[in-house]
Parts: sequence; structure tokens; C-alpha cells
Amino acid sequence: REIIAHSIEMINSLGFESFTFKKLGDAIGLEINDLDVTKISDKETINKISDLLSEFSVVVIRNQNITDDDHIKFSENFGTLELTKVGTDGSGSKLIILRNFDENGNIVSPTDRQRLNNLANQEWHSDSSFKKIPSKMSILSAKMIPSLGGNTEFLSMRASYNALPQELKLKIDDKICWHDYSHGRSKIDPNLVTPEEKQALPPVKQKLVLSDNKHGKSLYLGAHCRNVDGMSENDSNALLAEINSYIDTEKFIYSHVWEPFDLIMWDNRAVLHRATPIKGKIEKRLMVRTTVAGQTSTINEY
Ligand code: OGA
Ligand code: MN
Repeated sequence: REIIAHSIEMINSLGFESFTFKKLGDAIGLEINDLDVTKISDKETINKISDLLSEFSVVVIRNQNITDDDHIKFSENFGTLELTKVGTDGSGSKLIILRNFDENGNIVSPTDRQRLNNLANQEWHSDSSFKKIPSKMSILSAKMIPSLGGNTEFLSMRASYNALPQELKLKIDDKICWHDYSHGRSKIDPNLVTPEEKQALPPVKQKLVLSDNKHGKSLYLGAHCRNVDGMSENDSNALLAEINSYIDTEKFIYSHVWEPFDLIMWDNRAVLHRATPIKGKIEKRLMVRTTVAGQTSTINEY
């Protein structure tokens, strides 16, 4: 097994002897093996996992055939869970259900809300960036996966920030963006956002550059990001396009090919993520997610 060269000392210093690690992408991603999430809840281990997530942004734990209750219990070690918003499968509960089939197991039509929402998940995004206090991390469990495609990709926004020229960094460090749930969804299908969702989810402000992670600053963008505050639409679009032009979607990505019962945790304030399309014949895909709420907003105003 490949062991992370650059930070093996860090990991050893955590006293994680019984687990093995494998580095995944160049910029992000750590696989932990020989860990059973139903058996841990002690503060020390939880803090260690938090530290690893804060450094590697994406943590993959294999072979976790867990119940929804196990999933919730493990997730709650990291903070309060968000309740699923209106208009999403699992609404009002601590779980988000992503699936492309109905109660009878039949694949739903491509224009079904469920499929359109899955399509929206194929845009780079950060979960809950449309909330005043956006989420800290998401924890996704693979229950049923198609034979080909349906990967989940993660893009390092720390590496992306680091790749910007100095002048651009200075220019954007204090910028604020408006994030709007309706913005990205409406592009998928104008009817995808219901009046109920529109009312429940008004646009919010977020910092464009987050600086609270000790491993470095990161960009905070994604499909919900509508525009830069205080700029004309043209200038805002131009600035966002300029930033995007420096983001290397090859080098900064980790693309996860799912195995059944993989559990992935990611830091929503350090990566964007997206689903990739299912290839070939559409097969069932069922994923269950919890979302750990953030503790602070990204700006001081709220
Ligand atoms: C999510 C998400 C992508 C996927 O669970 O938040 O965006 O590949 N999932 O299912
Ligand atoms: Mn998501």
C-alpha cells in the first residue's frame, strides 16, 4: 500500500497505528482502511479524522455496510446535522436520498424531478452554499451503484486558489458573492425550482475566499454562486471567468469510482464536487447523504 510520503509523520503522530492510509488524488483525497465507523465515537479518534479531513479535504472509508442510523450516529460526532430542505427526497429528516428510481424500483423518466436533481448534481457545487451558514462537511454512503459512470469528482479549491496569480488573489481576497439555489437549478430546467423552494431559500452572501482552514485559503464558488456583490453583471461574469481559467480540472481533481458501501466524507469549504453521468444503459443508483452543519457563516454580517 502506498503511504503518503509528505505527511506520514503527521499521520504517525496521530497514533493511528491500526489503520492504513492511501493517498488518492494529487491535491486531495485520503483513503482510510481497516476502520469501522460503527465502532468509533471517542473524541480522540473523531478529532483525528477531522484533522485528516481538514488536511486532505476528501476522506474515503471503504467497506462500511451501515444502516441509516449508523450513518447518522457517525455523522453526529462531527456536529449538528442539517435537516433536508423542502423539495428533496428525505425532506425534514437528517438524510438526503439520491436515487434514480421510484418506490417500485423502476427507473424514473429523464424529466422526473429526481433525475433532474441528479442532473443538477453534475454541476460543480458545494452543498448548502445557498444557506447563510453553509455546511461544513457531507458524508455520502453508496448503496447501489451502476456498472459504469456515476462517479463523484472532487475539485480542490485550495489548489485552485493557490494557482491564481498574486494580483488576482489580492483583488478577490475580500470579495463577497451571492449564492442562490434557484440560480443553478433554473439553468437545468426552469421549472425545477418550486415557488416553495424559492421562498424557503432566498439568496445569501458568502466570502469568495475562505481563510479559516489552517492548511490554506480556498475559493468558495460552485453552481449556486450567482454573482460578485457590488459589480455589474458583465464585470462579475468576467471576474468569475478569469478565476475559473486558472483552475486546472485535471490536476486538482480526485475522481472517485465507487465500490458498494464506500463512505466518503468531504469538506464543503475546501472542495467542489459533482456526479458524473451514468454510462451506457441506465442502472439503479442509490446514495444516502448526511450533511454536517457549519458553525459559522463565511462573512461577519449575519
Ligand atoms: C451529494 C452529491 C454527487 C453524487 O451527495 O451532495 O452531490 O455523485 N452527490 O451523487
Ligand atoms: Mn452535493
